[in-house]
This record gives sequence, structure tokens and C-alpha cells, in this order.
Amino acid sequence: MTTAVTGATGNLGGLVVDALIERGVAPADIVAVVRNADKASPLAERGVVVRVADYSDSTAMTAALAGVDKLLLVSGSEVGQRIAQHTNVIEAAEAAGVGLIAYTSLLAADTSGISLAPEHKATEERLAASGIPAVFLRNGWYWENYLGSLAQTVESGVLLGAAGNGKLAAASRVDFAAAAAAVLTLDDQGGKIYELGGDERLTYAELAAVIGELSGKPIAYKDVSESEYAAILQGAGLPDFVATMLASADAGIARGELDTDSGDLQALIGRASTPVAEVLRAAV
Ligand SMILES: NC(=O)c1ccc[n+]([C@@H]2O[C@H](COP(=O)([O-])OP(=O)(O)OC[C@H]3O[C@@H](n4cnc5c(N)ncnc54)[C@H](OP(=O)(O)O)[C@@H]3O)[C@@H](O)[C@H]2O)c1
Repeated sequence: MTTAVTGATGNLGGLVVDALIERGVAPADIVAVVRNADKASPLAERGVVVRVADYSDSTAMTAALAGVDKLLLVSGSEVGQRIAQHTNVIEAAEAAGVGLIAYTSLLAADTSGISLAPEHKATEERLAASGIPAVFLRNGWYWENYLGSLAQTVESGVLLGAAGNGKLAAASRVDFAAAAAAVLTLDDQGGKIYELGGDERLTYAELAAVIGELSGKPIAYKDVSESEYAAILQGAGLPDFVATMLASADAGIARGELDTDSGDLQALIGRASTPVAEVLRAAV
């Protein structure tokens, strides 16, 4: 049984490779599909098979997926180009005769109003139209998304956002990776849709309280409108599309679109999710 992981030089893909090996998959049975071979040398040193293919390169991708039974397609990071890129990977998997594709989607991708959702929805639709059995790993938000602004939050004593009183059932990347590895090593996964979120379902005011406790400084949540938040992030130097995307995600949190109590993550990983305090502690 050969299992391929795209984006294996990325944060999530790398953790999935680790989790597969922890589950007893031999490194020689794992194919890391990467676009930068140099970046993959630590994987090669561990005995993982490294093959080079960009999501946009059909020929290289078809060759990279030769002999692969199960594929984890980690959604790409080039927002706006991902429908074409993911379609390419799916077509390459069809040409190579892959037996199962698991795809890292977004929580409630079919109904979510978050700006990132349409690319995930389109990829899910292309997978559903494929003859290859597919699994949708609808990942919620990463707690790690709050690490970048943590120093500023602690220094200012203010967690800024546009999430209102919405609850956020985020989880750490290591938990989403463990769930993906579980799906890749279980039988009969074709057709399953997992809505993946952590045990802690926090409002931003509650998240601010966690950061306050970790830092020993009171942190207050300041709620602004979606457009105000995007403008503040732009003013702080974030590229426009990132600022707009983050503000859109917060508006989605306010609507409950990054919340779930499905229990799917916990059932797949066989434990509670990693506490947010543990994810943030070292950085605080
Ligand atoms: N749920 C969330 O909160 C959340 C947050 C951020 C992102 N995401 C999504 O989840 C994915 C995985 O997250 P992550 O933290 O692991 O992101 P990441 O560290 O940026 O990893 C993305 C991986 O995709 C690879 N990649 C991107 N475009 C590619 C292309 N055209 N051809 C081949 N490989 C390509 C990258 O290759 P290189 O290593 O060469 O760069 C990288 O390995 C992201 O790509 C994004 O779609 C989710």
C-alpha cells in the first residue's frame, strides 16, 4: 500500500508524514509529493520517497502519482489559483489510477460564506465527479493562526477581531494531521465527509482570557466590523488579499461557520484535541 502526501514540505503535510510513520506506515511506502526537492531532503533522509511535481504540472504530477494507492491532496496555498491546480492534481490521480483521494477542505465548505470557501467547494465538486472515491477532511481553523499576532496582542493588551460573539472550534495542526493519517490508514473511507474541529469552542473574548492567563496580563477583546478589521490589517502592512481573507474569516466565525460539535476530529484521533493553551504557551 503506497500513500502519497502533497504539500509534504509544508506545515500540515509534514505533520501528516510524521503521523503516518507513528501509525506504523513504513517510510518507503510514503511518497512525499513536493515542488522543491531541496526542502524535502529531511524527508528523503528518513527514507520517505520524494517525488517532485508542482500542482500546475500535469505531466510531472501524473508521474509522481504512479503506483500510489491513497493520496492526501493538501489544499494549496496560492489562493485564487487553487481550483485549476487542484483539478490538475485530481486529473493526474485519475490518469495514474490512484484508488482514494483525501482532500483537506474547509469546515462546512458547501455552505460557508468565508472567502476561502468557494475554492474548496469547487474542489469537492470536482472530486465528487471523479471516479476515484474521495474523502473530505473539512478542517476548521488552526489555533496556530493566532501565533503571528500574539506578541502584538500581549503587548497592547487587546485582541482585535471581527468575530463578535461567535464560537470558534479551532484545533492545532498536529490534530488535523493525526486525523488525516487516521483516514489514510483506515478502510472504507470513500464518500465520507468529516467536519473537523477541536473540543474548545471559544469566543474571541474567551480566547483573549486564555492569552491573558498565559501572559499574566489582562487581555481584552475589541470587536470591530469586518471592513474596519480589514482596513486595520492593511494599515499594519498585510497584503490586501490576506487582510480581506482574515476579516472574512472573522465574519464567518461571527456567523458560526468555523464552529462544530461534530466530534469527528476526536473520533478519528481517539483523544481530545490539544488544548489551545498548549498551542499558544511557548509563543506567549
Ligand atoms: N485551516 C486553517 O486554518 C488553514 C490555515 C492556513 C492554510 N490552510 C490551508 O491548509 C493548507 C495546509 O496548511 P499548511 O499550514 O501546511 O500550509 P503551508 O505550510 O503553506 O503548506 C502548503 C503546502 O502546499 C505546497 N504547495 C502550495 N502550492 C503548491 C503548488 N502549486 N505545487 C506544489 N505544492 C504546492 C507548499 O509547497 P512549499 O513547501 O514548496 O511551499 C506547501 O508544502 C494550506 O495550503 C491552505 O490551503 C488552512
